[in-house]
Formats: sequence, C-alpha cells, structure tokens
Amino acid sequence: MKKGHLITLIVLSSALTPSLVMAWPWSRDFMNQPSIKPQEGEMPPAPKRSVPVGGYPTQIKDRLRAYRLANPVAASAESIARGKQFYTIFCTPCHADSGKGDGPVGKKFPVQPMDLTNHFIQNEAFDNWIFTNITFGGRLMPSYRNDLTPEERWDVVNYVKHGLVPSSDQASTQQTAQQKGDNDGVR
Ligand code: HEC
Repeated sequence: MKKGHLITLIVLSSALTPSLVMAWPWSRDFMNQPSIKPQEGEMPPAPKRSVPVGGYPTQIKDRLRAYRLANPVAASAESIARGKQFYTIFCTPCHADSGKGDGPVGKKFPVQPMDLTNHFIQNEAFDNWIFTNITFGGRLMPSYRNDLTPEERWDVVNYVKHGLVPSSDQASTQQTAQQKGDNDGVR
C-alpha cells in the first residue's frame, strides 16, 4: 500500500470512529486551562463596577445581620400599595386579609399565626424585626427570602405597619424614625 493511501485510510477510519478520536489526548486540550470549572470552589466575587444582568444574591446572611438594617424604603403610598399586593399573595393564606391570623391555612395551624394588627406589631415592633421574620420565617412560618426581593419585603413591612390598620399610622412612623441601621453594602 502506498504511503498516501495509508494516511487516507487512517484519517478516514478515525473520522468514522469518533469515540476513539475523543479518547486521544488532544481532544481535552481546551479543558486543561486555568478557568474555574463548574462546582469548583467558591464563586469569585464579581469584578468591581460590574452590572448584574439577572437578579442578585441577597447578602443578608443571618438574622443578626437583618436586625441591623434600617428600612431603606420610604413608606410612600406606592410602597404601601405594592406591599398590599405582596401581602395578599403571600401572607393572607395564614394571616388573613384582616391581619388577624385566621386565614384558611392559618386556622389549621396548631399555633395561630400572629395577629399582625396587635399593639406589639403596630406600635412596638421595629421595621427590621418584621423584615427579619419575613426573610427568615419563624418556627412554623415559612421564609420569604426566595419569593420576595429585599425591596419587596420592605414594601410588605410598610404595608403591615402603615396600611393594615389605617389608624396606627402615626405611632409607627415615629418608631421608624428612631431606628438606626447599618445598611452598608447590604440589601
Ligand atoms: C403558612 C402560614 C404563614 C404564612 C403564609 C405567613 N405567616 Fe407569618 N406567621 C405564621 C405563624 C404560624 C406565626 C407564629 C410564629 C411562628 O411559629 O412562626 C407567624 C408569625 C409572624 C410574625 C411574628 C413573628 C414571630 O416570631 O412571631 C410576623 C411579623 C409575620 N408572621 C408576618 C408575616 C408576613 C408579612 C407574611 C407574608 C410575607 C407572613 N407572615 C406569611 C404563619 C405564616
């Protein structure tokens, strides 16, 4: 057999047996490079000034961090209206439209969901305490940090404090103003 024919035969037969070709060392050349492979180590932080294009991870790691936040969303009519929508979707099954805690699912609970119209919530609880409970849930209450963005959770807080019981507005505004927060770089 002529040399040229032999080479043609080798090339042709390798083309027809791709699995064999893939097993040769050069087929993995592109993989052997310094890039980070899937599941390899921790995600490196995004370069400075980069812009997220689809959502963002919330940096509120634990309850203590959440307790230190001040409410960054003003309790405007718009925020309260948005909060009411989210409240209706996420909270009414247990806490009911009225906020009293006797929603259809709430009634089935061994411990009744807290009455959100009570004196404590309306006049004493800080915004960040309510925010923390929405973010991390309770012993029985689910966490909403995957369903609502931090801003949406503050909207719900604004609604609970300023919309659920209309007459409670003034007392709770004073409370909010007294609160000091540490929101540096955290949302
Ligand atoms: C599946 C039922 C359920 C849903 C839905 C629910 N909660 Fe609750 N919630 C509870 C229960 C039960 C409690 C009593 C405390 C506990 O055991 O978690 C509670 C307690 C609370 C408390 C007081 C925290 C405490 O430690 O007692 C707040 C504030 C609250 N809920 C707000 C909300 C808001 C706002 C929403 C909507 C984003 C919501 N909840 C949705 C069941 C629910």
